[in-house]
Amino acid sequence: MKERKLRIGMIGAGGISGTHCQGWTKLDDCELVAITDINPSASAHRAQEFSIPSVEASAEKLIARKDIDAVDIVVPNHYHRTYAIAAMNSGKHVLCEKPLALTCKDVLAMIAAGEKNRVKLMAAQHMRYQDDTLAMKDYITNNPPGDIYYARAWYNRRRQLPCRAGFMYMKNSGGGCCIDVGVHILDTAMYLMDNFEPVSVSGISLLKLARRSDAWSEWGTIDKQNIDVEDFAAGMVRFANGAALSLECSFMLNQKSRATHKIDLFGTEAGISWPKCEIYSSMNNRFVDTRIEYLTGYPAHHAVIRAFAEAVMGNTDVPVPPHQSLKVIAILEGLYKSQKTGKEVSLAKRDKPVRKGKHITVSPARPAAGNIALRVSPPRARQDRTRNRPSAG
Ligand SMILES: NC(=O)c1ccc[n+]([C@@H]2O[C@H](COP(=O)([O-])OP(=O)(O)OC[C@H]3O[C@@H](n4cnc5c(N)ncnc54)[C@H](O)[C@@H]3O)[C@@H](O)[C@H]2O)c1
Repeated sequence: MKERKLRIGMIGAGGISGTHCQGWTKLDDCELVAITDINPSASAHRAQEFSIPSVEASAEKLIARKDIDAVDIVVPNHYHRTYAIAAMNSGKHVLCEKPLALTCKDVLAMIAAGEKNRVKLMAAQHMRYQDDTLAMKDYITNNPPGDIYYARAWYNRRRQLPCRAGFMYMKNSGGGCCIDVGVHILDTAMYLMDNFEPVSVSGISLLKLARRSDAWSEWGTIDKQNIDVEDFAAGMVRFANGAALSLECSFMLNQKSRATHKIDLFGTEAGISWPKCEIYSSMNNRFVDTRIEYLTGYPAHHAVIRAFAEAVMGNTDVPVPPHQSLKVIAILEGLYKSQKTGKEVSLAKRDKPVRKGKHITVSPARPAAGNIALRVSPPRARQDRTRNRPSAG
């Protein structure tokens, strides 16, 4: 059997696609073979920048190609479900930018398509691969902080609203800061808590500042007339084990800091603070505070791509299981519903609980193109020590 590289097609050539292209082109065993965008000049530009051999006229044409093993979806949220399901029905593995989809119904349909076609599906939750998250997760796994009964997850920006069509209008994004950055911080917090069993959420999502005549953003010009997504959201999540999590996220908030990304976990044995990587405990009536130092490694956006590629090539479970993404989306969808109803929303009936400690297998995968084995590299050493981490958004 002939060995060859994993062949990738990318749908979308906007802001984050450049970072994804960098991630793919670092991988010796992978090659970006095609790209498409509804804006042909954007895809042509990316193709030239990263020597991608072909620019397809449409996502449908790219998905129909027989020589592509996996599709990377980096378009506005509203299109994730459609392209992901089409790609999986065409036998392709799918890496999709966050949020995986906008509703539980959509995520469940995507998971079903992955299972039916025996291909892998994963949301690119890159914050799980930040050095601080890796260090914290490693510490918590080896030194459990006891029963984590409360958590705070904040992703608040002062005046950083992304002023692109994919973020300002509900018809493209399906929401504002809650679905955009809320999905990052919630996924990371639940990953660190190792708790993907939310049972209810109560919250608010508000458009308070972005339509004001004096509104402004460090990241472009706000379409004040037409923006229709929330610029602030907050909520309280309850979990099956009795724990609770408070979530805050904003594109615009009158706070001192330009941006606050923070997770606090409170356990019976210790407290954990991310991204400071501090641990607070006590011994013999004295406080014991510890701080983890970590090396700067592979950029998180590239590491999540590498992890997906390794799961496909090694035919192992994807490291961001779509059933976990389902739970995160259930909370965000529930929070929006809570804003509308003014009530706490039960999440119990939306899907089945994830078995703790088990990753859901979506494959076994098959080589997408005929009798060709994909080359599998041994696990890579942490080699790239750059600090140049692209910002989340
Ligand atoms: N992980 C992160 O930190 C991060 C950061 C930014 C964006 N994202 C996510 O990536 C996705 C894309 O965001 P972005 O910042 O690149 O947005 P963007 O607006 O910069 O680019 C989106 C691109 O998609 C193209 N497009 C729009 N509709 C399309 C369609 N139907 N078919 C094909 N192409 C289409 C647009 O022409 C544009 O080039 C979003 O889901 C967003 O949430 C993630």
